[in-house]
Amino acid sequence: MTDAAPPQYKGPQRVFSGMQPTNGLHLGNYLGALQKFVRLQDQYECIYCIVDLHAITTGPDPKELANRSREVAAAYVAAGVDPKRSTIFIQSAVREHSELAWVFNCVARMGWLERMTQFKDKAGSHAERSSVGLFAYPVLQAADILLYKATHVPVGEDQKQHLELSRDIAAKFNKDYNAPNFFPLPEPLIQGPGARIMSLREGTKKMSKSDPSDMTRINMTDDADAILQKIKKATTDSLPVPESKEGLAGRAEVENLVGIFAAVTERTVEDILTEFGGKGFGVFKPALAEALAAKLSPIAAEMRRLNADPGALDAILKYGADKARAVAQPIMAEVRDVVGFWRAG
Ligand code: TYM
Repeated sequence: MTDAAPPQYKGPQRVFSGMQPTNGLHLGNYLGALQKFVRLQDQYECIYCIVDLHAITTGPDPKELANRSREVAAAYVAAGVDPKRSTIFIQSAVREHSELAWVFNCVARMGWLERMTQFKDKAGSHAERSSVGLFAYPVLQAADILLYKATHVPVGEDQKQHLELSRDIAAKFNKDYNAPNFFPLPEPLIQGPGARIMSLREGTKKMSKSDPSDMTRINMTDDADAILQKIKKATTDSLPVPESKEGLAGRAEVENLVGIFAAVTERTVEDILTEFGGKGFGVFKPALAEALAAKLSPIAAEMRRLNADPGALDAILKYGADKARAVAQPIMAEVRDVVGFWRAG
């Protein structure tokens, strides 16, 4: 866990994070973010969003979108986010996200966004044919966080650059509008072996929803048998599991599996290597598959139960949207004053 927000900022400490409702969640989403969401509830006021405004940058089927959003809410709750203690809501239900994003579009600089590697990856060689929304995606992400003046943001490593941009936008807003410390500079919470989960087939590619092969990832809804098959087929080499961290150098796939084992059991990498060092993957892989199934199966069962009751999920989401608005609207009202928008006298 990193230090608190810079001491100059005097507002409350608050956690915000979000996930896109696209194509089901995988182990990277769970270990990189969701598992941390659950833990942070003991320490902070937490706000967890399902970012459907971000999802439309890649054109999901409108008939599916609302259900996909409900499914992410079900995953949050099934993993242990408590909808009473924390706030769970859908981004498009709180219109101030879009309003603040526009203000930030006028703060962020083109050059800052042109450097975003995720845009380059997503747009490929067709940047000029990409939507403006895809380009401005990280500005909306900054608005998500700062609409709640959040001080801490648990995310996977792939979001690091977007979080740096959020800090830059906060700092520039504070400076341009001569409003020192109006927004905090949000701290990313990225540490731990779960922060960068790689493909099961290629240790240099991140585990991702968009990979065409399902064998590259563990889905949160995979059953024990599917998990075992995928882990058995995961790429490794012919050497045994190393006995120390140095022995992981140059063995990206092995490092990934050991990191997954550590993250899912909430143990250290050293601890896993002490137990399995010198043993073959014929021993390591079934133990890893078992640990994964032990963690994910109860969550998947709870997700199925929740998904069968969309009415109950909607009640959670309405309650969450009301709570989110109660924080967001006064902050947006302050922003409107700082920017100088008209207000009836
Ligand atoms: P998204 O939906 O792609 O991913 C959700 C979370 O999962 C993490 N993650 C991973 N962590 C470790 N290893 C992986 N292979 C892996 N793949 C995904 C992501 O880092 C993320 O934490 N832009 C964000 C959503 C967002 C957001 C926000 C996050 C919108 N507004 C405000 C934080 C705060 C995204 O696309 O996440």
